[in-house]
Amino acid sequence: MSVSDELFAEALKVMPGGVSSPVRAYRSVGGTPRFVKRALGSHIVDVDDKRYVDLVCSWGPMIAGHAHPEVVAAVQQAVADSTSFGAPSEVELRLAQAVVARMGGAIDKVRFTCSGTEAVMTAARLARGITKRPLLVKFVGCYHGHSDSFLVSAGSGVASLGLPDSPGVPKEVAGDTVALPYGRIDLVEELFAERGDQVAAIVTEGVPANMGVIVPPEGFNRRLHDIAHAHGALLIQDEVLTGFRLSPTGAWGLQGAKEEWTPDLFTFGKVIGGGMPLAAVGGSAQLMDYLAPEGPVYQAGTLSGNPAACAAGLATLALMDDAAYSRLDATADRVSAMADAALESAGVPHRINKVSNLFSVFLTDAPVTDFASASKQDTKAFSRFFHAALDAGLWLAPSGFEAWFCSTALDDDDLEVIDAGLHKAAQAAAQGLSSLEDVRR
Ligand SMILES: Cc1ncc(COP(=O)(O)O)c(C=O)c1O
Repeated sequence: MSVSDELFAEALKVMPGGVSSPVRAYRSVGGTPRFVKRALGSHIVDVDDKRYVDLVCSWGPMIAGHAHPEVVAAVQQAVADSTSFGAPSEVELRLAQAVVARMGGAIDKVRFTCSGTEAVMTAARLARGITKRPLLVKFVGCYHGHSDSFLVSAGSGVASLGLPDSPGVPKEVAGDTVALPYGRIDLVEELFAERGDQVAAIVTEGVPANMGVIVPPEGFNRRLHDIAHAHGALLIQDEVLTGFRLSPTGAWGLQGAKEEWTPDLFTFGKVIGGGMPLAAVGGSAQLMDYLAPEGPVYQAGTLSGNPAACAAGLATLALMDDAAYSRLDATADRVSAMADAALESAGVPHRINKVSNLFSVFLTDAPVTDFASASKQDTKAFSRFFHAALDAGLWLAPSGFEAWFCSTALDDDDLEVIDAGLHKAAQAAAQGLSSLEDVRR
């Protein structure tokens, strides 16, 4: 029995599923989650002293690698002056200025929160408070945190009223969220034609990455922006995952900034806090000033803008200059090409969706454009792929519905380990593939 096995058995007694967040529990791939004792640069070390090359990066934040000396120094200095003040601090101001400056005029102000969930919840409340309308429009398979309004999926069809995805979400709340299949601008137009005057906001991921990475159809986000505005609604671009990762200005930097349109509200998380609990809502001064105490929309938080978290975020953003993004993009090109080649040579049908440095590997032979097509992947083959990769020292997300995250800490030695590990993983995925029908099922 490994130390991870022993700790997990203990954890199951005092924590539901033994974890603080469900996907960590390995339910979809089977087996025992590895307990981590430390991580440095591109490596994670588990409690059994096995070392892995990290391609999860704590689900996004660790873009500059783990325990980067500059991030550690900034946090140490901050915590030496106390872990929390519950009052404004200079480091919080400096991070706000850095975020506003980076977004190059797309936002004037930010409000810090402790999690992406809170940030999107706050953006939705703002949109509803400003427009005095109830409805939110989201897309099936996009994740915006676990607040009641967003734990909603929808059956097919236009304007189907949301049904709660989880017991505990009142149907009255879920009913004010409409979930449409991703990419179907025709259905968005139909919905707005019928109920446009009730819609407070369209909420979308800049690049969806929570059903695996989906490449937005050309012009899709701009059309969402235009449709929302034509009906007096707002566009909330959720960049909790993509913000300051896909480019210095996130997914918006790859799209809106070039096409000259701007979402009304942004949400940021993950990279903005450099691995500490920090997220934010951003927008124009006009919209953001609806927030209390300037305006009537209430939002608050004991630990919001925490100085140690802001210090980690500020240090991480400072590390991520243009050269760092170029390196990250080049590394992601190499890793995704390795996954492609390994699966190809093992004869495993697959699709890779990629936007700049973010990509997903789907074990399916059909294009993946939305949640329904992402769901066609062969989850059994993925489990074999995942466990063989883990044995070979690769730390992958334990689900085929996740993005792969690279960091600037990955070096050539890591890439060799990744290449060898992916070949073993691909061979394992190939075992038991009796026919293409298996893949489709
Ligand atoms: C796009 C997006 N929005 C919101 C969230 C929720 O963020 P958090 O987990 O910090 O609450 C996530 C988390 O993965 C996300 O990817």
